[in-house]
Amino acid sequence: MTFPIVRHRRLRRTTALRNMVRETVLTVNDLIYPIFVTYGDNVKEEIPSMPGVFHFSLDRLEEEIREVVDAGIPAVLLFGVPETKDAEGSSAYDADGIVQRAIRAVKAQAPELVVIADTCLCQFTDHGHCGLIHHHPVTGAAEIANDPSLELLVKTAVSQAEAGADIIAPSNMMDGFVAAIRQGLDEAGFENVPIMSYSVKYASAFYGPFRDAAHSAPQFGDRKTYQMDPGNVREALREAESDVAEGADMLMVKPALAYMDVIRLLKEQFDLPVVAYNVSAEYSMVKAAAANGWIDERAIVMETLTGMKRAGADLIITYHAKDAAKWVREGLAGGRA
Ligand code: PBG
Repeated sequence: MTFPIVRHRRLRRTTALRNMVRETVLTVNDLIYPIFVTYGDNVKEEIPSMPGVFHFSLDRLEEEIREVVDAGIPAVLLFGVPETKDAEGSSAYDADGIVQRAIRAVKAQAPELVVIADTCLCQFTDHGHCGLIHHHPVTGAAEIANDPSLELLVKTAVSQAEAGADIIAPSNMMDGFVAAIRQGLDEAGFENVPIMSYSVKYASAFYGPFRDAAHSAPQFGDRKTYQMDPGNVREALREAESDVAEGADMLMVKPALAYMDVIRLLKEQFDLPVVAYNVSAEYSMVKAAAANGWIDERAIVMETLTGMKRAGADLIITYHAKDAAKWVREGLAGGRA
């Protein structure tokens, strides 16, 4: 009789042994919770394609922030749905815009909670693109103008910092946005406000439910001239390299699930914290399957988030954050509070 020389199962024999040798453990400090704020009064409206996620008017935001703080989640990412939109997205950089007012409200209520502001124009432009539209002088075709858009993005970031944002998270994918925003923040005296760059953002169908929620679907064309092609990974390195050179403090990969290799690559190539965005359709698919009784929601979510962390994410932006924080506390899937 010969015996296996190596027995992997020895360390899997009991719960205690498995807990001792677990390599990746999700913690509540890894989580960032996105919140949608909207104009109007007394609004708490569930987003149909994102069960459990709501639009809040400013006067109803308090209850949501209390839940987040009670769950021990360290940070929120704010998105705004403005009352008016125009070609220049002017409500994005209005000192009294919806996001600026929400930042002030959250900081007043919970000064310790890290407030991250998404810096983009698409929720605020009537055409739904992330930058300004210019028409080609010869063909008349509409293009997203890079450099003129930067000016507006800088104004947006500075107004968010003035309102009290702790981190600026630009998601617009214009070239040079990190350098432009860094300089704008520094000139305005916000040299200590970090930039969490959406460095590697793919032109993805996984943003569908978010665009319903944020009313930010492009009114013509698509985002493929500024967001990345899903087939590319060497280009992801170029995007991340330029962001590092321009002074980014954290690098994000978005979406997460279909791009785990990109998360791993950025983790290996750069020494900045890596953030994974577990985007809207990744959430909605889990919720839909769970509602049908086809999957065990808790187990699926914990395995997914642990997988993102194992791939290299230091932080995870996720609509599951409040549930995940609770499940971590309950010790599920080896989570540890
Ligand atoms: C804005 C922005 C988008 C998301 C975050 N910031 C949408 C987009 O680029 O179309 C998507 C987030 C999600 O799907 O959860 N540019």
